[in-house]
Amino acid sequence: MKIDVLTIFPEFFDAVFDHGIIRRAKLAGIVEIGVSDIRAFAADKHKMVDDRPFGGGDGMVLKPEPIFAAIEHLTGAGDKADYRDGTRVVLLTPQGKPLKQADAGSLAENVDHLILICGRYEGVDERVNDVLVTDEISIGDYVLSGGEPAAIVLTDAIVRLLPGALGSETSAENDSFSDGLLDCPHYTRPAEFRGMKVPEVLLNGNHAEIEKWRRQKALEKTKAIRMDLLIGENGESE
Ligand code: 6GU
Repeated sequence: MKIDVLTIFPEFFDAVFDHGIIRRAKLAGIVEIGVSDIRAFAADKHKMVDDRPFGGGDGMVLKPEPIFAAIEHLTGAGDKADYRDGTRVVLLTPQGKPLKQADAGSLAENVDHLILICGRYEGVDERVNDVLVTDEISIGDYVLSGGEPAAIVLTDAIVRLLPGALGSETSAENDSFSDGLLDCPHYTRPAEFRGMKVPEVLLNGNHAEIEKWRRQKALEKTKAIRMDLLIGENGESE
């Protein structure tokens, strides 16, 4: 998969894309990540990327021209109708659809060129949305100063699902949310630490018992703090 990030703060991504799973996946050729400075696509001599909103109001709006030029450069197309199959252009914005594990899974499976536009300031000129953006995604109901942290979150969530990115193919299957529940508690050595003992069931090697315990703990945890995961979107129990 190729991921291109469009941002006015390219340095923001230097450290995160060079550690852990993302770094490994890049080195293994599983993902290629490009970070492009929107400013580099500004044609005017002041390299302007934002301007005041028509109609008045606070803040600045990202201008359309540099973003159109960047997307044309990356996709060869100036309209989403002309993107190749497997190309998606995502705008990270609090106005987007809240990101779920299933969305990360679907992007990991179906997309080979993912372009992430990091929103900034008060917003992005709506013509970018109308003509270029295939998906608007938010990472939750709170406001960030820009889409950069959200682009990092989305990239991480997707890359770890790409075949071969994790050490063991099963580790993503047991993640929180993959079965609609939070993950169960985990323990490692020592078996007793400051008087706190690891649950006996985990030490006895009975794998059926261990699975049952893990499922039970995952359910308890989910019931306690994420009842919404157990109740379907229309209010039905799952
Ligand atoms: Cl994607 N962008 C910004 N600016 N704020 C957010 C967000 C995105 N998701 C949640 N809050």
